[in-house]
Amino acid sequence: MATAVIAQHSKPDLAADVRAGLLRTGQKELPSKYLYDEVGSALFEVISFLPEYGLTRADERLLRRHSLDIVARLEPHVLVAELGSGSGKKTRWLLEALTRRQRTTYCPIELSPTALARCASELGQIECVSIVGFERPYLDGLLAAASRRQNEDHLLVLFLGSTIGNFDRDAAERFLTEVRRILYRGDALLLGTDLEKPLPQLLAAYDDPLGVTAAFNLNLLARINRELGADFDLASFRHEARYNSAEQRVEMHLRSTRDQRVAIPRSGCTVTFTEGETIWTESSHKYRAEDVAGMASRNGFRCDSQWIDSEWPFAESLLIAE
Ligand SMILES: C[S@@+](CC[C@H](N)C(=O)[O-])C[C@H]1O[C@@H](n2cnc3c(N)ncnc32)[C@H](O)[C@@H]1O
Repeated sequence: MATAVIAQHSKPDLAADVRAGLLRTGQKELPSKYLYDEVGSALFEVISFLPEYGLTRADERLLRRHSLDIVARLEPHVLVAELGSGSGKKTRWLLEALTRRQRTTYCPIELSPTALARCASELGQIECVSIVGFERPYLDGLLAAASRRQNEDHLLVLFLGSTIGNFDRDAAERFLTEVRRILYRGDALLLGTDLEKPLPQLLAAYDDPLGVTAAFNLNLLARINRELGADFDLASFRHEARYNSAEQRVEMHLRSTRDQRVAIPRSGCTVTFTEGETIWTESSHKYRAEDVAGMASRNGFRCDSQWIDSEWPFAESLLIAE
């Protein structure tokens, strides 16, 4: 079927965001969306196969087992948009279930051109599916996808893999409100959320013994070296995953193992690190299954159904716009 990729008009400003995040007073931070350049997207694919990272397999099991049931609960004609599709591997189950009843337009929305290309090749061969990819941030992409609805189409928005966990809790609520604004009554959001689980299991998922997650995290500094001409010495930073119990989230940090100065020419700055200081690079908030219905109702949705994996606590929730 047809595949088209529509590139973004304005790219995220890595140089400005790096400058702002590393020169701020207090905790240094880098936005997690920059983890996914070509190397980062490839490393994330490997992470999804690691025995310690059960999240992707739980999400995939739920979609494989319940796609027909999910589709049966949707309005008759849907256009599918996926926020942060990655390689889109798991989405195959839903698209195949949908094509039993309709030709389907699928709009993956991604900042990473590598992930978008992989998604188009992974899903482009499914009969009766047309792919229109958007290389754009989530909400820009969703607006563009929504503008492709035909008269009777409802939207099915997918936000899988617990990517919503990368937002702080307040930001997640605001994000759901923004998504809801783009939807019509009766449209659907299928939301994947990783659930609380024992601490050793949680930490191992973000700090595997092979060091793939460490490489994924450190690649952010390598990316800044490549794209902004910086001189980060990767051997002087160490990956760290820690659990913040007050916020119920795993945080990834990069810890400086010595006092050092790093020049970042294309951000126009030099950054000083003391030994032990960290850069906070990603949060993965964990939920209780019942939290999702509350989030839904506070932001204009009702939780129609929820499926929970029995091997790795993870919930797939079908939210309907009210
Ligand atoms: C945690 S991965 C999840 C990928 C896939 N959905 C899965 O479940 O395996 C998050 C994906 O979202 C993309 N992404 C991150 N921030 C984004 C943003 N603001 N707009 C669009 N895509 C984004 C990344 O490039 C990455 O491919």
